[in-house]
Amino acid sequence: MAAKLGILGSGAGSNMAAIVDACQSGLLVAEPVLVLCDVENAGILELAKERQITGRFIPPGPFKSKLSDDMERRYIEALQEADVNWVLLAGFMRIIKSEFLRAFPERIVNIHPSLLPSFPGLNAPAQAISYGVQVTGTTVHMVDQGIDTGAIIAQEPVSITPEDTPESLHERIKTTEHRLYPQAISDLLTGKIKVCGRQVIRN
Ligand code: GAR
Repeated sequence: MAAKLGILGSGAGSNMAAIVDACQSGLLVAEPVLVLCDVENAGILELAKERQITGRFIPPGPFKSKLSDDMERRYIEALQEADVNWVLLAGFMRIIKSEFLRAFPERIVNIHPSLLPSFPGLNAPAQAISYGVQVTGTTVHMVDQGIDTGAIIAQEPVSITPEDTPESLHERIKTTEHRLYPQAISDLLTGKIKVCGRQVIRN
């Protein structure tokens, strides 16, 4: 049976759309069943609707960078009720705490717009430009207790030009992400990539 995907996002939702489109075209053999969002009017909910995927806004609670315990439980319950096997973070801008990690052990994946471990956290494209690196990129990684510290599944570089703004760079990174994320998920689901703690085995 195809793996059921739950996708969490806070923003435009272009990575969610790329994953759902890859499922619908057969490039990724998985069933996207639920999109959850912590921002009421985020574009991701509209893109989910266009693709006939159930999208739900669940309020995050009072904190800026994490879900409150109560709300985190509601996220977990929604995913469990939908029988989700894999949780994909696609621009979800809150840290995932230990109860969430325990509910989906080694089954939560994130995409981050830099070549980790460089530039973790917020505004990674702006961080890369301010630092003055000539190459940044994107990373697909497992989610653990840290911020963007989990085992690395896939990476791809993106060059920075002197004309780049954080926005233009981020758009170019996203173009790469839309290809890399569905491929990395496919590699995990088919067993081409196996993860055991920090160890990643590529067949
Ligand atoms: C993506 O570039 C993703 O890598 C980034 O947010 C963007 C979401 O865009 N994630 C992070 O910065 C997480 N720290 P999208 O909503 O269009 O997919």
